[in-house]
Amino acid sequence: MELYLDTADLEEIREIALWGVLSGVTTNPTLVAKAFAGERLTWERLSQHLKAVCELAGGPVSAEVTALEAKAMVEEGRRLAALHPNIVVKLPTTEEGLKACRVLSAEGIRVNMTLIFSANQALLAARAGASYVSPFLGRVDDISWDGGELLREIVEMREVQDLPVRVIAASIRHPRHVTEAALLGADIATMPHAVFKALLKHPLTDLGLKRFMEDWEKVKP
Ligand code: E4P
Repeated sequence: MELYLDTADLEEIREIALWGVLSGVTTNPTLVAKAFAGERLTWERLSQHLKAVCELAGGPVSAEVTALEAKAMVEEGRRLAALHPNIVVKLPTTEEGLKACRVLSAEGIRVNMTLIFSANQALLAARAGASYVSPFLGRVDDISWDGGELLREIVEMREVQDLPVRVIAASIRHPRHVTEAALLGADIATMPHAVFKALLKHPLTDLGLKRFMEDWEKVKP
């Protein structure tokens, strides 16, 4: 399973990219708004920023359209895709999103269908030519449903139906979600910076290293 950062923050991407385990980045309008808090965005500023994300990510970068109507989504998607070869156009899983997905995919532009909360939505997205589908585990768990079960169904459906789509476990809230996604066969898990850091942390690792260093101090040449 590949690991993506779910952020638009350049510092966060720069830090995790140095670990050598980062395969891509996903963004969304909320994450972009957070990265530019207090600023009014221009297209130039946004495109410059997305290009920088692409360079740091070294892999696919999902950039979401903000248009809600298919024709405008297609135009925005083309503009985003032209920014950098790493850009994957993110579209909401709506009627208009499906229409736009079909057009952009036929042009060879990779699409990530987002806000997926059912296996049937994932099926529709795959049939419309999406390269990626993003079920939102955490938001399903938030309403006391089972995000893991949603992911399991989508992964199984993809296998049974032999659908040419990659499954991104999204809306990851904690390290257990990452383990669960990997065991369930997700292709990718996209997570916030804090979850990436939490994946690595273990008190016994810290304690063990401390003890090694103390013992080494006693004998080191
Ligand atoms: C996916 O690509 C989304 O950006 C993201 O995972 C949403 O997660 P949230 O529920 O933490 O906002």
